[in-house]
Amino acid sequence: MIDFRDVDDVNFGGALDALALLVVIAGGFATLPSLYGSTPLALAFGGAVAAIGGLRFGWRIGAKLRLTHGGDFDINSHSPPPVEPGDIRLGFVAHSMQELSVTQKAWKQHAMVVGKSGVGKTVMGSWLMMQQIAAGGGLLWIDGKVDPDNIEMLHHMCCWAGRGDDLLIVNPGTPSESNSYNPLLAGDADEIASRLGALLPEAAANAAADYYRSTAINAIASIVAATRAAGYAITFEDMGILLTRPSALEWLLAELRKKGRAEQAMQFGLFLDQLRQRDRKTGADVLDQDGLRKMFGGLGARLGQFSGGDFGAVMNTYAPEAQMKEVVRQGRVLYLALPTMGKGEAASALGKIVIGDFRSTVAAIQKLPKSERPQRPFLGFFDEAGSYVTQAWSRMFEQARSANLVMCPAFQTKGNLGVLGDELRGMVSGNTDTKIFFRPGEPETEAWCADMIGKETQAVHTHSESEGASARGVSIHERGRGVTDSQSASRSASHSVTLRKDYAVSADELKKLGEGECVVSLAGHRIYHVLVPRITFDDDFAERAGPFRPRHSADVQTSDGLEPLRILQRPGAIH
Ligand SMILES: Nc1ncnc2c1ncn2[C@@H]1O[C@H](COP(=O)(O)OP(=O)(O)OP(=O)(O)O)[C@@H](O)[C@H]1O
Ligand SMILES: [Mg+2]
Repeated sequence: MIDFRDVDDVNFGGALDALALLVVIAGGFATLPSLYGSTPLALAFGGAVAAIGGLRFGWRIGAKLRLTHGGDFDINSHSPPPVEPGDIRLGFVAHSMQELSVTQKAWKQHAMVVGKSGVGKTVMGSWLMMQQIAAGGGLLWIDGKVDPDNIEMLHHMCCWAGRGDDLLIVNPGTPSESNSYNPLLAGDADEIASRLGALLPEAAANAAADYYRSTAINAIASIVAATRAAGYAITFEDMGILLTRPSALEWLLAELRKKGRAEQAMQFGLFLDQLRQRDRKTGADVLDQDGLRKMFGGLGARLGQFSGGDFGAVMNTYAPEAQMKEVVRQGRVLYLALPTMGKGEAASALGKIVIGDFRSTVAAIQKLPKSERPQRPFLGFFDEAGSYVTQAWSRMFEQARSANLVMCPAFQTKGNLGVLGDELRGMVSGNTDTKIFFRPGEPETEAWCADMIGKETQAVHTHSESEGASARGVSIHERGRGVTDSQSASRSASHSVTLRKDYAVSADELKKLGEGECVVSLAGHRIYHVLVPRITFDDDFAERAGPFRPRHSADVQTSDGLEPLRILQRPGAIH
């Protein structure tokens, strides 16, 4: 829609405008019969001269007129900064249709996207990811709401940028279309243990549950440390066996001794001693199956979800094709599907584990010399982050910034972040400079978004006018005493301006945002009403790109030279 309010902004004046006006008038004079005659040629000539002047005015107005969007939502956006090469483009400012971009420096201060279902969060993410892919940058997209179209879209984006070979898809819901991935390989024993801790219920508010949780995580760390010391890489399947079978733990202890790792064997032995009980029949100290079960709760069973079936087909690997650290270092594109439908609990646990993997990667990248960190900031887009947010997020923003990684979580409600307490919510909103607000779905989130957008000084104009008249007639009796009729009239007007602090965009206004429309707040004080472009590929391109097929690489290495544990095949480990 063309907005004619822009015409109001055109200020005519100056030598050129005056000259143009003179030319128009001259055109009019040229048609006067006394000056030029009354032939049709004279009319045409006059018209042509006037048109030259008119063109100048047309051009002046046309330069101001822009296509604008005519939705219900209406705010005064700040004027956007000029777009520089390398900037990240967010969309177009409504009314002026100027492009809004964020510098790479500001982008590294992270971003967040909030909005109810179906308002355009993923479309926004696709636009950001498309730019990242086209610029040759690396990307991790964790998708909490898997839609096969998302994979096709990413495939098309990569093909469009000539980067089809850079794409890795981990899709435990459809193993035949997936690359392999094992999040239990990278990092040290403590990191792997805290990753697996994501399978235990969060217990921040309950001291007893918290104690149980940290005991279990320490115990897992002891077991992982023992496998590492014995020179083995593990999978979910191995871990599931180790956490439930006493014989497997005894076997691991024997391995440590056999391999001459005396100190580690002693430590692991001390840990196992906590679980030993005297066998009544033989009188020997044996590992207590019940004690093991109590220590790890249902963790062994939960691990079973990952080691069997479709999940297992993708994750029981010792040389995974998708290795987070390599993805970040080589700037590849990794899509991780969390099949929430039907496998909700496992999917959200997987999301948490992957975030744990990402966190270890951030720490590892941070330790690298600057020259080996990603040149273009790596982008982490965490879609539907509400289903897999953990306490690990709180520190990650700061670390990621110095490792040259940008985090962009997208979630639906304030409650999504609130499950883990106010502190985490504060961390996310406090650590993200670019905030993108789509239409929120419920009052609590609306108020939270309005708060984050902030307040501004607004002028409230009040104008009042009043008019009054009175008349009093007197009785004959009074008139006789010389009193006369009286009349009076009054009129007053007042205008006052009150300055007050109020929400720059109120909760009620946010409800008016349409699909693909958002409010962007940059660095906490610049606010824009932005329309987001939607990327689509036409059928012709889709046909040329072909359907997505995972590219399997033949030469992936096992991490750190560790030997695959394959505990099910170790004689003596299972009986
Ligand atoms: N910028 C846009 N331009 C045009 N259409 C859009 C735009 N944004 C969203 N839409 C429309 O809205 C639909 C839903 O958008 P999208 O998938 O991004 O929602 P979402 O916020 O990610 O929802 P959910 O939380 O359910 O995943 C799109 O399929 C598209 O039809
Ligand atoms: Mg979405």
